[in-house]
Amino acid sequence: MHDLRRLLRPYDFPAYYKTMLRDLYKRPIKDLRISVTDRCNFRCTYCMPYDEYTWIEKAEILTFEEITRLTSLFVQLGVQKVRLTGGEPLVRKGLEKLIRQLCGIKGLNDLSLTTNASLLAEQVPALKTAGLKRINVSIDTLDPDKFRRMTKRGDLGKVLEGLFAAKQYGLHPIKINAVVERGVNDGDIIELVEFSREHGFAIRFIEYMDVGNSNNWTSEKLVPKKEIIERISARFPLKEVGRDNGTAPSVDYEFVDGRGELGVIASVTEPFCSTCTRARLTADGKLVTCLFSSVGTDLKAILRSGASDEAIREIVSGVWQKRNDRYSAERLEALHSSTGYNPKTQKKLEMITLGG
Ligand code: GTP
Ligand code: 5AD
Ligand code: SF4
Ligand code: SF4
Repeated sequence: MHDLRRLLRPYDFPAYYKTMLRDLYKRPIKDLRISVTDRCNFRCTYCMPYDEYTWIEKAEILTFEEITRLTSLFVQLGVQKVRLTGGEPLVRKGLEKLIRQLCGIKGLNDLSLTTNASLLAEQVPALKTAGLKRINVSIDTLDPDKFRRMTKRGDLGKVLEGLFAAKQYGLHPIKINAVVERGVNDGDIIELVEFSREHGFAIRFIEYMDVGNSNNWTSEKLVPKKEIIERISARFPLKEVGRDNGTAPSVDYEFVDGRGELGVIASVTEPFCSTCTRARLTADGKLVTCLFSSVGTDLKAILRSGASDEAIREIVSGVWQKRNDRYSAERLEALHSSTGYNPKTQKKLEMITLGG
């Protein structure tokens, strides 16, 4: 006898699954950030500064077919947006094949990529043909020497080549992400704004976060959103627009003269945990429910044991229903408390494993 559920196509999947899946703070699951590799050709000082690192074994990395199957199950549970990340996603060979497969998933409304753009110029034609529409590119400074110091291995020329190739191929919007570190690149904010306005890129400044265990974060290195906005608005008057959908990490602004787009991601000083709808999938198939988690649920083991779609959905639902993460909100409470905040109290997964 046929199992009726197996005959249902994804878009026929019972609506109650989507409407019912909420975590302990009633947050639905809406976004999936997929790390396709933990490897990266850069060594940004705020992310992965180590030259030597124990990378995930090739055999442990999810295949494109496994990622596609899991993604379609997440979409059935409510996910509408998927972001491919790493490490650096473009070091994974044939990424355009994955993009093509993911674009075929009904109900997936938005597929995007966060990249350092160093390999983008040669790959953008294939990525675009496969169905990619938009990207976010990390650029913290336009000074080539400083860029090299911050990324340890990066060549700004290659990155800009990739950025402009993406523009030429019609990817839109293209957002530039700049992590701001006091005493390092906080003097570069205005130049990044001018560059982005001139070339039609959206620019987002990111408060330096204590992600992972390797970046020696201290609150002194942080430039708060308030200060970033004061500096920019002294030069270019701004009007706050708010968070996309009310849930995005970025608080967006318009320039009063109508030229350009700006956002600030203030995970430290203005945490957005109360509206966090993001799940993360590591390159080796672990489901992680917060950027600051120390553990994940091994979906790969379940997948490779031959579990049915139904069984995998049940497991994901169970994890999400028990979710109570609010790390950034707790960090702000600790920063304001008499005891203060110590980023080293809990060992976390590295940013390159989680894809930001
Ligand atoms: P858009 O959909 O284009 O707005 O993308 P995004 O801003 O969600 O993704 P992107 O990869 O560009 O991330 C920008 C910054 O936001 C990175 O530093 C991420 O680590 C950070 N970020 C994204 N999601 C979260 C989150 O849930 N919590 C925290 N604390 N930071 C996040
Ligand atoms: N703090 C804030 N953002 C970070 N990113 C990497 N490390 C940090 C950090 N410590 C950003 C990258 C990239 C995104 C995925 O995460 O610059 O744009
Ligand atoms: Fe690589 Fe991006 Fe991390 Fe830099 S921030 S080391 S480019 S993954
Ligand atoms: Fe979501 Fe965790 Fe980031 Fe808060 S700290 S917004 S719960 S990922």
